[in-house]
Amino acid sequence: MATVSTGLFRSSLGRKYLMALSGLFLCLFLVVHLIGNLQLFAGDGGQAFNVYTYFMTHNPLIKIVAYVNYAFILLHVFDGLMLSMQNRKARPQGYAKVNQSGSATWSSRNMGILGTIILVFLVIHMKSFWFEMKFGSMPSTSYDGDPKEYKDMYTIVVAAFGQLWYVALYVLSMFAIAFHLYHGFQSGFQSIGLNHHRYMPVIKGIGMVVFSILIPALFAAMPIFFYLKSL
Ligand code: HEM
Repeated sequence: MATVSTGLFRSSLGRKYLMALSGLFLCLFLVVHLIGNLQLFAGDGGQAFNVYTYFMTHNPLIKIVAYVNYAFILLHVFDGLMLSMQNRKARPQGYAKVNQSGSATWSSRNMGILGTIILVFLVIHMKSFWFEMKFGSMPSTSYDGDPKEYKDMYTIVVAAFGQLWYVALYVLSMFAIAFHLYHGFQSGFQSIGLNHHRYMPVIKGIGMVVFSILIPALFAAMPIFFYLKSL
């Protein structure tokens, strides 16, 4: 068993497979995270958003999924660094991965740098929200007819999005996510062998419309909306 898992980590094919699996899981996380965060637009002073973050941090099943998520983020980052280094070493021999259409796209050639921008974003993002939620001393609030005390994450998010540099960081990072997923989503399916010629056009379409346009645009809309509201 130990040799199987070591082999999976060591071989570059195994790495690509783990990279793809973890990446596709993170795509799923992104969809759920976006739907939850859309509560910010409810126009109810933050109640729906605070109730949502309470649920996400208290539900036992979600807590387990969250740990799987952290593990996949670490695996994806580590694997990505290893693959980027391997590709760089192999590049002089002309090994640079060429995509199905015959020419590598800009996104596919820059997955490492795009991933690094996303990692920097993620560190800052986790520090401002996740760390505050878990370990910070946050304001709390309650709602009529509900005895629970809620951490007022809404106020923290709105305050963060009132700063221009922070909004700029988010918007630029969403471009990095858009280009990363433009290649990453379809490449993930190819790496796990789900690249049947009948389904590939659909997978590529979803990758382009949903993951490289819709999702990054909706995420970017949040800081922009609250910044404009604060003016
Ligand atoms: C721009 C809009 C976004 C907002 C308002 C937002 C908000 C939040 C908040 C409030 C938390 C902490 C509370 C919680 O766990 O639910 C959080 C956690 C997190 N966010 Fe975001 N987020 C945004 C975008 C993103 C993006 C684009 C990514 C990924 C690239 C991301 C990745 C994460 C991760 C990995 C966590 C930790 C989740 C966990 O503990 O299970 N977020 N976010």
